[in-house]
Formats: sequence, structure tokens, C-alpha cells
Amino acid sequence: MGSRKKITVVGAGNVGATAAHWLAAKELGDIVLVDIVEGVPQGKALDLAEAAPVEGFDVRLIGTNSYEETAGSDIAIITAGLARKPGMSRDDLLRTNADIVGKVVDEIVKRSPDSILIIVSNPLDAMCQVALRRSGFPKHRVIGMAGVLDSARMRCFLAEALDVSVENVTAFVLGGHGDTMVPLPRYSTCAGIPITELLSKEQIDAIVKRTAGGGAEIVNLLKTGSAYYAPSAAAAEMAESILKDKKKILPCCAYLEGEYGINGLYVGVPCKLGARGLEQVIEITLTAEERIALQKSAAAVQELIDILGI
Ligand code: NAI
Ligand code: 2OP
Repeated sequence: MGSRKKITVVGAGNVGATAAHWLAAKELGDIVLVDIVEGVPQGKALDLAEAAPVEGFDVRLIGTNSYEETAGSDIAIITAGLARKPGMSRDDLLRTNADIVGKVVDEIVKRSPDSILIIVSNPLDAMCQVALRRSGFPKHRVIGMAGVLDSARMRCFLAEALDVSVENVTAFVLGGHGDTMVPLPRYSTCAGIPITELLSKEQIDAIVKRTAGGGAEIVNLLKTGSAYYAPSAAAAEMAESILKDKKKILPCCAYLEGEYGINGLYVGVPCKLGARGLEQVIEITLTAEERIALQKSAAAVQELIDILGI
């Protein structure tokens, strides 16, 4: 591979392969797609490479079952694991995915010691902690994807309710990626106007509830798997901000050491993403109610960490 950036995507399932699609379409770098299933990463990478002449993207795509080709990656997006099935909570996936993510991280670290890890596998916040401990990387190089997805869902619902462009709407979501996530209407805006001035409390409450249940809503519809278009687009946006040093402020799952009164735990907070990875955690003042909701969300993450004993 030449002087282009290099991105490894581990897990060539729904989220991983679709992430490769967004990354390639944005020409963010050469892409290595890794999976344990023989033929699948190779087939998907080749299929995507064959779309390049039509869509006009010049990136190299490799699909593989080994990690040799991943050497020297700038970013590794980890989506390996099992997806949620109907009736299954994210937490049911805990032990299986912790084992998978741990092994994947070992392989990446060996060959790409300077890479930045973007974790996607669920339960997200706990998998970030597994990746941090296992990699030995500094916290600014192990970041989780959840908030971009959760806030994108909220933005989608808000734009629909307001009948405006999705581009006009920003949304703010804090906390873990689970039923305890904390959408913050007071920091969510339409063209700079707080949504609390544009929608009724009932409308906002309904959107907040739908956002928190956004993952389950899709699982219940798809029945055989979970969401992947929006999750993969969200991971690609994080990768883009890092690879282009855009310094976008995005809600990400970050290892907190005192910020928001939380210590030694991964929780979703606003982060600045640039060339060094997570360059800054942005702290905002929370109301007492919001602070309690965030603490509750952090406690739910801590429970999983305690189960894993890490
Ligand atoms: P999927 O089942 O379509 O793909 C997962 C892929 O991982 C499969 O192709 C499987 O063969 C592969 N895999 C399993 N063990 C592996 C290993 N040891 N090494 C390499 N590859 C391995 O699932 P999908 O829909 O792509 O979801 C992937 C993960 O992302 C799930 O854990 C899901 O819950 C999570 N997720 C997280 C979101 C978030 O907001 N953080 C949003 C959406 C999904
Ligand atoms: C989602 O929120 C399953 O975590 C995944 O769609």
C-alpha cells in the first residue's frame, strides 16, 4: 500500500462491511476487512472494489482471514462479535464479545502499535474497557462509537417532527449505550434554537424515549440482526474526523478520569476527535436531574465491568 491512510475493519458482517462501504466512498484510505469466516471478507472487499469504477473512489480494498495485511494501520474499527437477536439484551453479549474483542485487540496491537482503535462491538462501553486494558494503549487511542449513532437517531426524529433538514438539527446524548442513555433536549437545537422552544414537552419526551429505544426498534423490525447503516456511518464519521484531523466535537465513549465526576470508566461524553485520537473531553454543566441520570448510566456500565472483573 502506498502513502494513503490505512484503515482496518475487523468483522465483515453488517456493520463492518457497511463501514467499509462508507469509508471507501469517502476515499478515507486503503481498507483491510478481516473476519473469521472464510471467503466473506474477501468476497465483500472484492465486490466493493468492483463498485469503485462506477462510484469513482480510488482506494485499495483487501479482504482476509489473517492479520498480516493489517500491519501499520492508522485506525482499526472493531465490529467483531455477535449481534443482538430479538429478546436478547446487549448485556447478554457481554462475555462472548469480551473474549472476541480481547483477541482481536491482541492481533491489531501486535501489528499496528500506533493505531487508534474505534470500538463498535456490544455491549459497547464494556468492550471499550476490554480494549483499553488489553491493548495497553493510552486512553486517547481507544474510543467507542455509540453517541454519534444515538444522537443521529435523535436528530432524525427531531427533523421529522419539525419538518426541517436533518442538517439543521443537532442533538446531545450522554451516558452509556443502553437503556440508561441520557439524551439532553436542552442542548439539542434546530438552526441554533433550543428544541425546547420549538416542541412541546410531550413531543420531546416521546422523541427522547424513542431515541433510548432506537436500537431495539430496529432489532424488532429486522428480526435477524441489528441496525447497521446508521451505526457504520457513525463509525466512519469518527474515523474521518481523526484521519483528516477535523477536530469535530462528537459524542463518543471515552475513558473518564474525573470528568463529569466519573472515574476509571468508559461513558459517552462530547469529545474532540483529531489526529491524536480523542483530543479533549468537553465538560458541560449538568442540572441535578441530568447528573443523576448520568450517574445511573455510569453505574449500569460499572456493573458489566464488575462482571468481567477488569
Ligand atoms: P454481524 O453478525 O453482521 O457481524 C459480526 C461479524 O463478526 C461476523 O461476520 C462474524 O463472523 C465476525 N466475527 C466474529 N468473531 C470474530 C473474530 N474473532 N474475529 C473476526 N471477526 C469475527 O453483526 P453486526 O450487525 O455487524 O454487529 C457487529 C457488532 O456491533 C455487534 O456486537 C453489535 O451488537 C455491535 N453494534 C454496536 C453498535 C453501537 O452503537 N456501538 C451499533 C450496531 C451494532
Ligand atoms: C444499536 O443501537 C444494536 O447497539 C446497537 O442499534
